[in-house]
Amino acid sequence: MGIEARIPMIIGNWKMHKGTIPETSELLRGLIPLVRDVADREIVVCPPFTTLESATYLCKDANISIGAQNLHWEEKGAFTGEISAPMLLGLGVTHVIIGHSERRQLFGELYELVNRKIDSALQFNLAPIVCVGENLDEYRAEQTFRVVEKQIECGLKGLSDIQMREIVIAYEPIWAIGTGLAATSFRAEMVHSFIRARLAETFSPEVGNSIRILYGGSVKPDNISEFMLQPDIDGVLVGGASLEADVFAKIVMGKPFYR
Ligand code: 13P
Repeated sequence: MGIEARIPMIIGNWKMHKGTIPETSELLRGLIPLVRDVADREIVVCPPFTTLESATYLCKDANISIGAQNLHWEEKGAFTGEISAPMLLGLGVTHVIIGHSERRQLFGELYELVNRKIDSALQFNLAPIVCVGENLDEYRAEQTFRVVEKQIECGLKGLSDIQMREIVIAYEPIWAIGTGLAATSFRAEMVHSFIRARLAETFSPEVGNSIRILYGGSVKPDNISEFMLQPDIDGVLVGGASLEADVFAKIVMGKPFYR
């Protein structure tokens, strides 16, 4: 499969924002008409759990899919406060972010856990968006490749080539998240092509060619084009700039992608 088969993907991660029904409704009602004519890339937004149902309802006739920001790895059980894959599926959710650095750093989520969450998502036909990326110290110590390699190795352990077809990887250097200091497109491309090569080696050349690898970390309307011009960057995972309909729409539409 050639790179032309990788449909670009733009994802908005709302984090713990816009999670009341009026807020979600306002943001999506603003966004839906702005991106209505976009047909050459996939759009996913990930609101908090509290408004996933409203979001899937509002987007039922739109070209926007709805993702969750996390899930529990078990289907059900005594896990107070947790949400499982079948519960998300029941709300019309199609995607789920797994292993976001905020969950790893603030909630101690390790990659063994990420692996179990991916398994559960796949079992219930949710497309996992698996986040990897180094922190500032690791970046400064030039450990990026080693860190990302380990995250991929542990996170994707045991998956088959067929399962890998459902997965999207998001490379989010932690030092670039919410800082306004995005990685340069050159650096991001270097890491993306490293990830692609490792996946081709670990799984198969087909997996390497077909998997989508997104960049995340301070993506804005004015830097989207430079990321999308890179051959191994297949889209973006956007935090802050996904919270306003017109700003996110500008990112979604960017410049025509080099494909
Ligand atoms: P920002 O776009 O706010 O830097 O956040 C990136 C992110 O963490 C998306 O998951």
